[in-house]
Amino acid sequence: MKTVKDYIRTIVDFPHEGIMFRDVTTLFADPRGMRLAIDQMLAPYVGMQIDKVVGLEARGFILGGAIAHQLSIGFVPIRKKGKLPGTVISEEYKLEYGEAIVEIHDDAIQPGEKILVVDDLLATGGTAAAGIKLIERLGGEIVGCAFIVDLPELGGRAVLENLSYDIHALCQFE
Ligand code: PRP
Ligand code: ADE
Repeated sequence: MKTVKDYIRTIVDFPHEGIMFRDVTTLFADPRGMRLAIDQMLAPYVGMQIDKVVGLEARGFILGGAIAHQLSIGFVPIRKKGKLPGTVISEEYKLEYGEAIVEIHDDAIQPGEKILVVDDLLATGGTAAAGIKLIERLGGEIVGCAFIVDLPELGGRAVLENLSYDIHALCQFE
């Protein structure tokens, strides 16, 4: 039987030369792949109190929406700078291939709410760390961070685990 990893396509030299882009759109497009990914991302959190799912732009929206629906809880987006219409707070961070700023609406999370962070891929951990900072600045408590792919060579998982966050990924690419 196919695993989650089997559904993921690799595009060489995207978006820049030297990057092996792990493309989860092929996983999303397959009904069995999508169900498998959502079920496996949720499995570690069964029975835990989670008040909201926060999804990181862009593929974290697709996963986070499905997970929030499955848990019957709300979904909150963290977006790249300039995309959210309301009052926001911001964090700058570095990527495997560049720099960016992410934002969250300043009223999207209430103090004490338990938050599950969701994205497709963990590389340097810069995006997730910036997202976590935004959530914690609003008083949210991180229950865990769920990803489909971990790129261990880029060290994001180690950084976040050293900060005592609960990190789950469904597969790794070297
Ligand atoms: C990718 C991926 C994660 C991030 C991981 O998104 O979807 O969000 O990189 O990298 P990091 O762990 O080094 O921060 P990207 O920034 O390419 O943006 P996109 O989702 O808008 O395409
Ligand atoms: N984000 C950062 N590095 C990536 C990679 N190699 N594939 C897909 N998304 C990424």
